[in-house]
Amino acid sequence: MPITTEVFQELDGRLSRQHPREILAYALAEYAPDIAISFSGAEDVVLIDLAAKTGAKFRVFSLDTGRLHAETYRFLDEVRERYEIPIEVFVPQPEAVEKLVREKGLFSFYRDGHKECCGIRKVEPLRRALAGLSAWVTGQRRDQSPGTRSEIPVVQLDTVFASNGNRLVKFNPLANWSSRQVWDYIRSEGVPYNPLHERGFISIGCEPCTQPVLPGQHERAGRWWWEDETKKECGLHAAS
Ligand code: ADX
Ligand code: SF4
Repeated sequence: MPITTEVFQELDGRLSRQHPREILAYALAEYAPDIAISFSGAEDVVLIDLAAKTGAKFRVFSLDTGRLHAETYRFLDEVRERYEIPIEVFVPQPEAVEKLVREKGLFSFYRDGHKECCGIRKVEPLRRALAGLSAWVTGQRRDQSPGTRSEIPVVQLDTVFASNGNRLVKFNPLANWSSRQVWDYIRSEGVPYNPLHERGFISIGCEPCTQPVLPGQHERAGRWWWEDETKKECGLHAAS
């Protein structure tokens, strides 16, 4: 049968009924070693813990924008040591960052919106991270954003980042988990987490673009808080 969107919709239907552990086990069995977990240093360390427990070999990459919190850098290293895994860190093209900062300063996103800076510091490095991979794994969840993530499938064909006509598959094993389930897992399994979560941060990105949230506020309210609620995506997963 040709590999079509329909084939992945059917697979999504089957995998959606499974535990994230089984979804990851399927993904790794099908695509290792050309598959990697995209780790942001927030609560998606759950993916790393689940993958480690499958016993399969897996790869992890992280996009170091150069603007992460000091706590996030320490946490990335804590995870590297705890799971004894290399974390493939991708940094932005220095020439592009230098040009942006020279022309617009270090905080242009507060005036111009975050798209340009995210394009340079996240999206371009992500393209390099994904080049040569057949599949990637993210920690996206439906309940993270009613505006942009409510339809996230567990598995999909990634047509945005596929390069040179190669097929790229994207797994979102936590798509159907709530924040509550993620945190229950973190506590019950003793999974390490970013200490910023103890200070009111829920969704954690770059330091100048992330704020703690108040009780009752939506978890992504602290991301790019000066922009329209419905457009809080940086281009890693959906157009902003
Ligand atoms: S973002 O698009 O708004 O920045 P978010 O922080 O919700 O994304 O994270 C969703 C998923 O995107 C994470 O679970 C992770 O898989 C991936 N991701 C986000 N930021 C990074 C990063 N800096 N490095 C690697 N993966 C990332
Ligand atoms: Fe730049 Fe903010 Fe995007 Fe980070 S989140 S890449 S600092 S605009």
